[in-house]
Amino acid sequence: MKARIIGTGSHVPEKIVTNHDLAKLVDTSDEWIRERTGIIERRVSSEATATSDLAIVAAEKAIAKAKVSPEEIEVIIVCTTSPDTLFPSVACILQDKLKAVNAAAFDLSAACAGFNYGLAVASSLIEAGRHKTILLVGADTLTKYLDWTDRGTCILFGDAAGAVVLKADQDHGVISNFWKAEGWLGQSLVMPGGGSRDPENKHGRFIRMDGREVFKFAVRALESSVNEVLKGAGRGLSDITLLIPHQANIRIIDHVIKKMGLSKEKVYVNLHKYGNTSAASVPLALDEAAAEGKIKSGDLVILSGFGAGLTYGANAIIW
Ligand code: COA
Repeated sequence: MKARIIGTGSHVPEKIVTNHDLAKLVDTSDEWIRERTGIIERRVSSEATATSDLAIVAAEKAIAKAKVSPEEIEVIIVCTTSPDTLFPSVACILQDKLKAVNAAAFDLSAACAGFNYGLAVASSLIEAGRHKTILLVGADTLTKYLDWTDRGTCILFGDAAGAVVLKADQDHGVISNFWKAEGWLGQSLVMPGGGSRDPENKHGRFIRMDGREVFKFAVRALESSVNEVLKGAGRGLSDITLLIPHQANIRIIDHVIKKMGLSKEKVYVNLHKYGNTSAASVPLALDEAAAEGKIKSGDLVILSGFGAGLTYGANAIIW
């Protein structure tokens, strides 16, 4: 059995923050941000909006498209590093709101690689015959953890949620996963406060990043995750219909696809509209690509992600 995506959904907050808006806060410009990242604008959630508020909307859309009932859902996995609270998990909050009374529910923490990690877990549960129907969500509100005086980070991130419903299927679905971590590079992208090391946030509740170090890792992670997942699937670069990479920085994507020899037409990009939405980035792009008719039944779709940890991973899917 394979894990087939039978419904996708996504949701973003209403408020748009443009590069021009950011240029009023820090010493930057629309031109610099566009050139160095490809981002033009991002969505920022209101003070009253938590991650589950975005996640529930994306999940409901995916469930409606999949035409499954909440009772059929056996597992809910929410990939996030910005949960509403340390506990209960966002997945349990969704279970309650959806009335998915038969489900197990847990959050998965692998930052921007979260959705690809989650898909590896969910597809393995289905392939093993343990479960037939799984709701997988990627949702983050990292703008709540941005230092709006740090131009090295506040220009990059946005908020969003994306969701898929996975169902056991004989023919279509995930055919290979790749996942890996490089914990020894963890200090290059850190949220120091709020955890058990610093429950009172003495070290700050803001994302700290060594941009150049993460950039070098990202380039390596994207290329190797695509190569490894293709190898696992027994396919080559020319078999790819659409690559949906983590939407962090257009320079990372352009550099890698040029080096690999993959044409731009085969790569989905929407980061100009949303920035880096962490665990939501890949399912949000997947939902938009599907809605735009970019993927047809039988196509080979590759998803890839990388992020804090440092973590990276990819999935190959026969759509
Ligand atoms: N506006 C204007 N200038 C900026 C700036 C900004 N927002 N941010 C940095 N600069 C300046 C720097 O101070 C530096 O100036 P200097 O040469 O006078 O010292 C110059 O631009 C170049 O800085 P550098 O850090 O080398 O820029 P960069 O080209 O590496 O771009 C990032 C910075 C953050 C955009 C880039 O490193 C990046 O995207 N890294 C990966 C981050 C990422 O994807 N993280 C999430 C992973 S999930």
